Amino acid sequence: MAARLLTQLRHHFTTANRHHFLSPQLLRPISSAGLFFRRSSDVAQPLPKDLTTSEETLPPTLSKPKISFNGAKDSVKSSLNEGELAKFSAIAETWWDAKGPFKPLHALNPTRLAFIRSTLCHHFRKDPNCARPFEGLKFVDVGCGGGILSEPLARMGATVTGVDAVDKNIKIARLHAESDPATSSIEYLCTTAEKLVEEQRQFDAVLALEVIEHVADPAEFCKSLAALTVPNGATMISTINRTMRAYATAIVAAEYVLHWLPKGTHEWSKFLTPEELVLILKRTSVTVQEMAGFVYNPLSGKWLLSDDIGVNFIAYGTKSSEE
Ligand SMILES: C[S@@+](CC[C@H](N)C(=O)[O-])C[C@H]1O[C@@H](n2cnc3c(N)ncnc32)[C@H](O)[C@@H]1O
Repeated sequence: MAARLLTQLRHHFTTANRHHFLSPQLLRPISSAGLFFRRSSDVAQPLPKDLTTSEETLPPTLSKPKISFNGAKDSVKSSLNEGELAKFSAIAETWWDAKGPFKPLHALNPTRLAFIRSTLCHHFRKDPNCARPFEGLKFVDVGCGGGILSEPLARMGATVTGVDAVDKNIKIARLHAESDPATSSIEYLCTTAEKLVEEQRQFDAVLALEVIEHVADPAEFCKSLAALTVPNGATMISTINRTMRAYATAIVAAEYVLHWLPKGTHEWSKFLTPEELVLILKRTSVTVQEMAGFVYNPLSGKWLLSDDIGVNFIAYGTKSSEE
């Protein structure tokens, strides 16, 4: 196993250096502002000097996809990465098995919901102590999977639309939601953020948790998320930081040692640093207002909210008042 890990490690770092899509110039404004760095050991891995954003230098997963959703010719860039979607399709039946491959998401759910509840109640001036604070608000959960996040959001009163590119996920999500009147009104659609933009849908809050590291083009994906957010609305994204510590914990430990996730679930080179995410969102007129880290406590088996954004982190942003 040690040899396999070494090969993996070498592969990840060489592909990361060849394949990253953001140029160092793009990062300067954010990193020089000193924003969001928490620990010197977690300083994001530097990007190679020779990177450009031209199509020729992009790896297949970051360049424009040749195939489009459901075989149709798309007029907009697709966020779909077929390889990533196949991974989720293969384990779709296990979404609601709290001890299965989605165990980490089930364990993380109460912690991320605490952050979402607190920031969005503040944002929409709602009482966080009320049972259904999101009553009257429209939320979209992009990359909803089996509905682990959509369901509690609906229970908190939001009118929820859950979308996922994998049909099997949507079928599982619908089936599960139907069993409870509090969640049966969730609108589940097998589609993408960019398709919803084409349909001119908009939502008070747009959430994409643990999805951006699986899409074909994160910048285009964020553009769609921003377009789906109403002016003055909220955008929420969670993902994994591109640090050495994230490689050690989110890939080596979670996939190879603890077997929490199927091997190959994550590619280190596709992770974004908080600074990159802030910059990408800023270009879509979404300003990140707050970030938090999720830290796993192996003794309690629980995730905690933390200011350590070195591995798992969540960002809450607001869309400017002008379209
Ligand atoms: C790690 S799961 C996260 C699920 C859910 N957001 C959560 O945190 O509980 C990633 C999900 O994103 C979906 N996905 C990946 N790329 C997508 C895309 N371009 N558009 C819509 N869904 C996508 C996958 O099918 C999968 O269900």
